[in-house]
Amino acid sequence: AWTPAGIIADAIASVRAQVGTQRVLLGLSGGVDSSVVAALLKRAIGAQLICVFVDTGLLRLAEGDQVMATMAEHMGVQVIRINAAPRFFTALAGVSDPEAKRKIIGRLFVEVFDEEAGKLSDVRWLAQGTIYPDVIESAGARTGKAHVIKSHHNVGGLPERMNLRLLEPLRELFKDEVRRIGVELGLPHAMVYRHPFPGPGLGVRVLGEVRAEYVALLQHADAIFIEELRKAGLYDTISQAFAVFLPVKSVGVVGDGRAYEWVIALRAVETIDFMTARWARLPYEFLELVSLRIINELRDISRVVYDISSKPPATIEWE
Ligand code: XMP
Repeated sequence: AWTPAGIIADAIASVRAQVGTQRVLLGLSGGVDSSVVAALLKRAIGAQLICVFVDTGLLRLAEGDQVMATMAEHMGVQVIRINAAPRFFTALAGVSDPEAKRKIIGRLFVEVFDEEAGKLSDVRWLAQGTIYPDVIESAGARTGKAHVIKSHHNVGGLPERMNLRLLEPLRELFKDEVRRIGVELGLPHAMVYRHPFPGPGLGVRVLGEVRAEYVALLQHADAIFIEELRKAGLYDTISQAFAVFLPVKSVGVVGDGRAYEWVIALRAVETIDFMTARWARLPYEFLELVSLRIINELRDISRVVYDISSKPPATIEWE
């Protein structure tokens, strides 16, 4: 019978048989799949695993530190962290087209990862968090947005240049199986059951030009929204929730005067497959609390709106 423990035992045996005593490189994205691969490989091959975590500066609030805390400290995995945020912000300066932003983020991610990988010697394998739905997606016709994180290693041509072989231990598993394995391997439940996060990260949730100060505001607004969802017991009842930064000035009253500040949109959806989605009917009292907190705690935000568009016709992300 299928059990997480059984799957883990099989995967470990198969990885050991393939890899032997050779070293394996893994790109950590902060997402569930690559984290589960890391935990699995740590158990299978211990110190032969080396992880590179490219911090783009476009992750959720404090997520880079959380990745390090979970993987390096809690799981004992060796992680090289690259703070690439300044490079990402420089590359994104003046760019407002969503697809152009996606391409820049994807390309730079590959570049930074490749640079770091190039410094490592005697690595023979490149591990990836490919799961079964990714295999199907890339076999069929792809529509729309590129899944940057998933495809980045291949796009970079790193396996060929460094003569690396691909190791994809989750290739036959569905997402819920990956999650159950993650928990079994000791990853924190809250991390394994986190809402999905797009590869280009907050780069597509700051509409238009991405600036460091906009990202910082968005991170805080998003963290307030997510924190309140968890507190209210709503987080696990919805499929995805996040904040979006609108580079629009809106008038507000601050003290005795008027202020023109930015707008934050809140998005929460319920969906099975992310192909269609219904906007989540969050309680008004809850939305009011989140709105008040965001406006009170972030002085550069003067207005909060709630997105009541379903998919289709709207997409889940705003860009
Ligand atoms: P949309 O906006 O297309 O989103 O309705 C559907 C799901 O896909 C995620 N998404 C992305 N994931 N790279 C990713 O890895 C992307 O460029 C991207 N765009 C959207 C989105 O968060 C939602 O879960």
